[in-house]
Amino acid sequence: MNLSREEEKLLESDNPTIAKCMEILVALGEIFGAERLIPIKSAHISGISYKNIGEEGLEWLKSLKAKVRVRTTLNPAGMDLERWKEMGLDDRFVKKQIEVIKALESIGAELTLTCTPYYIHKPSLGDHLAWAESSAVVYANSVIGARTNRESGISALASAIIGKTPYYGLHIKENRAPTILVKVKGDLNPSIVGYKIGSEIDGIPIFDFERRLSDDELKQLGASLASTGNIAMFHVVDQTPEWREFEIPNEKMEIDEVEIENDCEPDLIALGCPHLSEEEIREIARIIERYGKPKKQVWLFTSRHVYNKLRHVIEKLESRGIKVFRDTCMVVSPATERFECVMVNSGKALTYLPKLRRVKAIFGSTHECLRRAFDES
Ligand code: F3S
Repeated sequence: MNLSREEEKLLESDNPTIAKCMEILVALGEIFGAERLIPIKSAHISGISYKNIGEEGLEWLKSLKAKVRVRTTLNPAGMDLERWKEMGLDDRFVKKQIEVIKALESIGAELTLTCTPYYIHKPSLGDHLAWAESSAVVYANSVIGARTNRESGISALASAIIGKTPYYGLHIKENRAPTILVKVKGDLNPSIVGYKIGSEIDGIPIFDFERRLSDDELKQLGASLASTGNIAMFHVVDQTPEWREFEIPNEKMEIDEVEIENDCEPDLIALGCPHLSEEEIREIARIIERYGKPKKQVWLFTSRHVYNKLRHVIEKLESRGIKVFRDTCMVVSPATERFECVMVNSGKALTYLPKLRRVKAIFGSTHECLRRAFDES
């Protein structure tokens, strides 16, 4: 890779954190054939839950001796920082999780603790980023038109500290062209479309839906695609910002149904993967107006940012027996492990709950999930 004199100096820095971070970026660039590093506007780091990174990850974070050079946001942690007792977490886990967060705070990261950092600081079309968290990556590339590869927690952190990323993959316009056209017949749930398609294709799909999707549906589609596949970007005809810039590919497929095996009775309904937007929370509040009392536990997950903006709506939800947690989610928190079967409206949670939390998961739309949770009035 061609490095500037300043970058060479960072590689030989006396500060071991800076030298290590440069080494990581150079190694990554060489693997993927990048010629140079480019400046980034922001970094987003994943691997914040102590449950996922363990003692080794915590020790590495504590050893860091440098500050981030660009705005750096953080993915969800393993608990709500204030309401962890209600999540039934033990004191040791809480103590370790706080150590993780303090270590990241000390390098200058913002304690956003959300997988939807774009609701807090929305990047602009064409911005170069170094984001980890596959659902945020796919949203940034596809819905916003910013440019990021699918970084790991470690490479995103290295980019945060250096302020740069190797120039390859989705940073380069030609690599953002769609590779397969996917026609979606009927009114299929976009989250479940993503769940199915992610496991069947590689590359960049361009979807042709029969109706316009909301931004929340695009968010769900992308999160599911990225969870069952290695997909980091998609286009939607007539909707996403870059679809007109490329030819429609010759390779085509059609999808008109998706069968999901829902084979357990849920003892928890969990919504908010990815973290709920303001509109999604308002929609949940509207839906439950027609219902009576909850007969099952309902947990919602959102960012502290959205929570603070919607306090009045959230108070109403809480008064109806729903718990609204911040800073965490049903997949990265060990709190979900004490349940047998969790019902979700997210293809990503459907994929990861059995793998990471070893609980069964079933799928339904937001309406179906809430109908299952409440007595009809
Ligand atoms: Fe976000 Fe957790 Fe889902 S980090 S995308 S809510 S698995």
